[in-house]
Amino acid sequence: PDLDCRESVRPTLYKVRLNVSDVGLQEVLDKYKISLRRRCECVTEGSDETGSGTLLNRIYTELYITEGQSEEVNTQHEVRQLETVSKMKTLHDTAVKVHDIFKALPDQQTHIRVVLTNGVAGVGKTFSVQKFTLDWAEDLENQDVSLLVLLSFRELNLIKDEQYSLLTLLHVFHPTLQKVTAEQLAVCKPLFIFDGLDESRLSLDFNNREVVSDVTQESSVNVLLTNLIKGNLLPSALVWITSRPAAANQIPPPCVDRVTEVRGFTDVQKEEYFRRRFSDEELSSRIISHIKTSRSLHIMCHIPVFCWITATVLEHMLTTEQRGELPKTLTDLYSHFLLVQTKRKKNKYDDGHETSPQELTEADREVLVKLGRLAFEHLEKGNIMFYQEDLEQCGLDVTEALVYSGKTVYCFVHLSIQEFLAAVYIAMEKCLQSRNGHLDLFVRFLHGLCLESNQRLLGGLLGQTENSPEIIQRVINNLKEMNSYNISPDRSINIFLCLMEMNDHSVHQEIQEFLKSENRSEKYLSVIHCSALAYMLQMSEEVLDELDMKKFNTSKEGQLRLIPAVRNCRKAR
Ligand SMILES: *[C@@H]1O[C@H](CO)[C@@H](O)[C@H](O)[C@H]1NC(C)=O
Ligand SMILES: *[C@@H]1O[C@H](CO)[C@@H](O)[C@H](O)[C@H]1NC(C)=O
Repeated sequence: PDLDCRESVRPTLYKVRLNVSDVGLQEVLDKYKISLRRRCECVTEGSDETGSGTLLNRIYTELYITEGQSEEVNTQHEVRQLETVSKMKTLHDTAVKVHDIFKALPDQQTHIRVVLTNGVAGVGKTFSVQKFTLDWAEDLENQDVSLLVLLSFRELNLIKDEQYSLLTLLHVFHPTLQKVTAEQLAVCKPLFIFDGLDESRLSLDFNNREVVSDVTQESSVNVLLTNLIKGNLLPSALVWITSRPAAANQIPPPCVDRVTEVRGFTDVQKEEYFRRRFSDEELSSRIISHIKTSRSLHIMCHIPVFCWITATVLEHMLTTEQRGELPKTLTDLYSHFLLVQTKRKKNKYDDGHETSPQELTEADREVLVKLGRLAFEHLEKGNIMFYQEDLEQCGLDVTEALVYSGKTVYCFVHLSIQEFLAAVYIAMEKCLQSRNGHLDLFVRFLHGLCLESNQRLLGGLLGQTENSPEIIQRVINNLKEMNSYNISPDRSINIFLCLMEMNDHSVHQEIQEFLKSENRSEKYLSVIHCSALAYMLQMSEEVLDELDMKKFNTSKEGQLRLIPAVRNCRKAR
């Protein structure tokens, strides 16, 4: 099970295909499949670039993919969106298996040529694409596709100002296809996968009238892509584009035959992920049962990259000599993650000398504060991708940042990491002023960071902060009484989540008792109770038959705060 990827190239089976008349092409394609297999069989999760990677088939856990997409996609924070909208849609949506992405559902008659797959950062879009490709290259699925071309927008950015024909584009990115001719390309059924539209720096202009219909005709990459998507160029080709929701509107809806959404893991898939990841069954069971005890960790594990963060931290804590409680809140978990990652990088890039697990050096602290500044300043502007200048502006030496962020493209492994670092960086007042939901998690982290236990973990990174128990209690009371006339009921739920982050479970417990009690109408529900109730009903595995707002003993504002629960009921009054 611990095969190093680079040595795992399997003996190759050459398939003999009697029905292919063009032997030359088949030979090229067989070689091409081998190279694709090498490219796709190994993956690295998150920023885990120890160099070896993992076998995709060993860790691949099926993801929940649905036809259609959630509303609200462009306005809400991706993580919050996952928490709220996912619940609503599971009631109605049809699941689509990744290898069936081009197959029409039984009641659909249409030919599906262009598919657009949305999904929040870290939810597994690239993994899905790689799994699809690997299965094709291993002759397992979608064998009606004769040529599959996988390109990422990240790669295409590199040639955005150059002139290519579609044919030479193939040759450049996939040298094994050098011998494929224009005639062959025209008669075979190719599939083009373009991964990561959100990272694109091409300006796809679908209003541009320039028509390219010949695969040898040179043009800019923009024009080639729009013509391919519109069907002017290689009309027989299938096209699959993946994107984060906010960037997906670059493709006009009439050009798209099917929209799907990668939703991440269902509860069952979450457990499967951890079982596949660790060969040690006891370890995976301990991790799974721990996650189940923390509602916020459990919910966040919808996102595979968050499972990876959780797995990294918990594995480290359970297998080294670390004492102390396992993290139960996001803040706690992210603090540990920062420490584990910092320590790993140090061991990798320095002499491998083991330092005390919990200690950050002065140099570590400096880099983390700079990263924090980068995180915060760009979070305010809504940026999630950075350029070298941005890094330098925050005083980050590019090589130094590479060591810590582990990537040649500058972004944090996940938006939530950016928010965490931003929270570490800034002072308290900034938090509640944001108009969109983009600072919601940030606020949660900020509250979590008030706690002495979390501050101790980050030892000194936060400078001198002294929060007496009285101050903590005052923050908690403020949260409980905070009015929210200008905030949507969804956003108000975040106030409750902040309480959880501060380890205050009183409201949660009161609502649990309330839900069990017989005389519900006797209990007056405050606004914070209502947010907690809305959240708990919404996330509940059970779908309510009926929700009658009038039955709750609460104020008008309280009733408003209950609205999100409507998503998880069949009928509402
Ligand atoms: C609502 O709650 C208040 C405070 O507990 C209580 O006095 C009142 O009787 C309740 N209303 C109903 C209809 O039970
Ligand atoms: C509901 O009834 C229980 C006893 O059955 C009682 O202890 C509790 O105080 C009641 N709740 C309210 C809000 O009156």
